[in-house]
Amino acid sequence: MAPPSPPPPTKAQTRLIRRTWERVTEKRLEKDNPNVSASYAFGKAFYKTLFVLEPQLQSIFTNTLQQARVLTGILSYIARAPSVMPERYKDFASIKDMNSSISSPPPPPASSSSSSSSSSSSSSSSLLSDSHQHHVKQGVDEGDENELNKEEEAWMAERLQELGARHADYKGFQESMFDHVGPALVEALQRRLDSEYEPHIGEAWLKAHDYVSFHMKKGLKSRLVWEEALADDHTKHYQYKKLHQQRRRSSGASATTGSAAKASNCSIQ
Ligand code: HEM
Repeated sequence: MAPPSPPPPTKAQTRLIRRTWERVTEKRLEKDNPNVSASYAFGKAFYKTLFVLEPQLQSIFTNTLQQARVLTGILSYIARAPSVMPERYKDFASIKDMNSSISSPPPPPASSSSSSSSSSSSSSSSLLSDSHQHHVKQGVDEGDENELNKEEEAWMAERLQELGARHADYKGFQESMFDHVGPALVEALQRRLDSEYEPHIGEAWLKAHDYVSFHMKKGLKSRLVWEEALADDHTKHYQYKKLHQQRRRSSGASATTGSAAKASNCSIQ
């Protein structure tokens, strides 16, 4: 029996993922090259770890433009970005909540003494600021009442399965490669968030990744099974055709022999 789907990340975790992603795209570290954006630096950290975990991927991701596109795709699905959710669901209260949670800014810090690391460019939005941390923590606790409804979840799982099935087209792609994406994302988060990184952030990202890759793998597997069955059908069809032709040829031959025999019989008579 197929293993059950892991639960999707709660909305609070999705919000946390989006906030950490926003933070990653603005946070610069002292050692950063000033000509390179924070998102690019995250991408570099992500692919660096990915290539250590799975060296074969280097031959698949050979250009940075393609890499950036793939990473953006991965992140949009993991963060359940509105771009990957259907237009019609925007009418659902829960999706509205989800969208408004992105546009509403995080609450102001409780005190001006928020932890300002020397490497952080804007300490007021630091994930370590007391109020933000409290908000995030509160969000995670509230999460269970706030999950995707059944219809939204079914829709999301279906999209992820289609996405996974499309990955069969990417040359050199193997199912096991999915397993390295989660750890590479967490490692990149740790490097880029630096002192702002906390274990519950990594947990939220890994939970989202587990859910996404479960459904992508499922879609990939069903496509491969389907293609195998099709190939099998083609082989069977080809074998049947060959057998049929052979039979026709041999029955044609025996028919000729038969008629020759008949003719010779006739001639005897
Ligand atoms: C959780 C894991 C992953 C997610 C969510 C994901 C998501 C995506 C998305 C959204 C795209 C855009 C094209 C489309 O919609 O089909 C894409 C393209 C692609 N993905 Fe993935 N992906 C994942 C893992 C991987 C892995 C492990 C590989 C390793 C080979 C990979 C290789 C590619 C390639 C080669 C493309 C095509 C890029 C292009 O447009 O040229 N993906 N992925």
